[in-house]
Amino acid sequence: MFIRNFEIRLACERDALHIAEMSRQLIEVGLGWSWTPARVLRSLHDRNTNVAVAHDGGRIIGFGIAQYQSDEAHIALFAVESTRRRCGVGTALIRWMEETALTAGIGVIYLEARLSNVGARAFYRKMGYREVKLVPGMYRGIEAGVRLARDLWA
Ligand SMILES: CC(C)(COP(=O)(O)OP(=O)(O)OC[C@H]1O[C@@H](n2cnc3c(N)ncnc32)[C@H](O)[C@@H]1OP(=O)(O)O)[C@@H](O)C(=O)NCCC(=O)NCCS
Repeated sequence: MFIRNFEIRLACERDALHIAEMSRQLIEVGLGWSWTPARVLRSLHDRNTNVAVAHDGGRIIGFGIAQYQSDEAHIALFAVESTRRRCGVGTALIRWMEETALTAGIGVIYLEARLSNVGARAFYRKMGYREVKLVPGMYRGIEAGVRLARDLWA
């Protein structure tokens, strides 16, 4: 039997530094640090953005930032701690964001991944996302990216 040993909740202000550090170390590697604590805090206070964290009681082990528009949502940042991967944390987080979108009447989620990030691309495909566009230079002109989308009503 699989027992889930983590929970998902909305982030609060005291999580901002940890989330920003995770972005720097796990997502923005080689691109500079754009998701600073101040930017994460702005997202926390933005009415159209949800910052969700997975935690194991004491530590944050994953997070996602989703920006909700009128008919679509954009996952801007998403990561799971290296030591906690392949245990379903990413699946639980992305499903939480999808449920939130559906509750808000939003049927489409899109996001981006580096072309070279084969692990994340495999994860998103597994979650039902389709690679809809290849964008050369998407990441500061340094690296190509792939846009992915999922129709939640399909
Ligand atoms: C992508 C990421 C969020 C996945 O999180 P995770 O908690 O490991 O995902 P899950 O355990 O829920 O994986 C679900 C399924 O997705 C697929 N998957 C996940 N990671 C994969 C990988 N590296 N390679 C291939 N398939 C993968 C598998 O089918 C997996 O099921 P399985 O473990 O039973 O085979 C995580 O690897 C990560 O944080 N990467 C670094 C940051 C990043 O790239 N973020 C996304 C771009 S912004």
